[in-house]
Amino acid sequence: MGGLENKRILLGVTGGIAAYKAAVLCRLLVKEGAQVKVVMTETAKKFITPLTMATISKSPVLVDFFNPENGEWHSHISLGMWADCFLIAPATANTLTKMAAGIADNLLLTTYLSARCPVVVAPAMDVDMFRHPAVRSALDTLGQRGVKILESPAGELASGLSGEGRMAEPENIAATLIGMFAPVAESCALAGKKVLVTAGPTVEKIDPVRYVSNHSTGKMGFALAEAFMDKGASVTVVCGPVSLPFPDGARRVDVVSALEMYESVLKEYRTGYDVVVFCAAVADYRPKEAASSKIKRDGRPITIEMVPNPDIAAAVGEIKRPGTRHVGFALETDSEMKNASSKLAGKNLDMIVMNSLRVPGAGFGTDTNAVTIISADGHQVDIPLESKREVAREIVTEIETMLDA
Ligand code: PMT
Repeated sequence: MGGLENKRILLGVTGGIAAYKAAVLCRLLVKEGAQVKVVMTETAKKFITPLTMATISKSPVLVDFFNPENGEWHSHISLGMWADCFLIAPATANTLTKMAAGIADNLLLTTYLSARCPVVVAPAMDVDMFRHPAVRSALDTLGQRGVKILESPAGELASGLSGEGRMAEPENIAATLIGMFAPVAESCALAGKKVLVTAGPTVEKIDPVRYVSNHSTGKMGFALAEAFMDKGASVTVVCGPVSLPFPDGARRVDVVSALEMYESVLKEYRTGYDVVVFCAAVADYRPKEAASSKIKRDGRPITIEMVPNPDIAAAVGEIKRPGTRHVGFALETDSEMKNASSKLAGKNLDMIVMNSLRVPGAGFGTDTNAVTIISADGHQVDIPLESKREVAREIVTEIETMLDA
């Protein structure tokens, strides 16, 4: 069953270049089991056709107040009453400022004004528009009125400029909606629990222009953060340098090197956590000394002395608090189960999640993973290749069961 089974989502699409992503978003919502109806502005039709959206949503797209061919009235009131959630993605500066001002000059805006369901907006515009006081104030006003405003991550924009204003990725928008609708049973073992997740790579400086790192993107760690939040946990992510949109609702602690991650994790741990998941790919070694200026090439081989980084999971394992559950990951290329089991014991973990680079589609960078979960009591669960989001949900369910036991 999808996370939006039988939920009625009214998807509003406004006229910005990010409208092309509305098709992917719509497909994801449908795949998660939602019934989707689409309402578009006239300008949105210039960026993506109603035919595309109608085909994907399996429902006629609404743009005008009435059908010009047969005069059928499209009631904005009944649309607003039908929906369990009105999601506007992308939401342009024009639509957001009109929403804040109560202007009702198209079907999408009148629907917003009459909607009784939760409203979620995914702003998308150029960086200077995004920073303009008129847009900032509209977003503040909408936020105060209870509209959920999704993060607009920084990155390259269609204008060629770089900065905030990109539309949140469709996967993150769908995950937010799933989280909103997830029944957080009071009895759920993770509801209200504090969870710390490490994610992404660490970067170890050689000189001002070079470094040692690895291929971790943060996808697995961020998927876990989302899955924990869906269960009602409050999540802090200590993350190395990653360029993915950050999970909405989690707290972020940015670090660069393994030493910084070590210090941040210990500092966080001392504040008290119920669950800690070590998903980051931490560099085991760093250059003994980072050169202060660029190392010059003179054609001869060079030797960089590498010294071991602290093992964060093992260090936290040594000061483990009673009641706190520690979950590690093991990224293996051979003797997978043997190595993972030895890390489980050596780092004082309650559970370890083994992923092998020998499995195509598993490990670094991919949207999928295949893992074996091994618990300290010997219990073992195999999760075949699935999306990292689905794998994360299953890992979190195992952790929940462990907390219940
Ligand atoms: O970020 P993605 O692109 O989605 O990729 C996900 C992933 C492959 C990075 C993730 O699924 C994963 O396997 N993370 C752990 C990678 C790793 O460093 O594995 P390891 O077997 O070397 O380390 C074992 C455990 O000790 C891990 O929990 C690790 O976080 C921890 N560790 C390792 C070294 C160190 N100095 N300190 C640590 O805490």
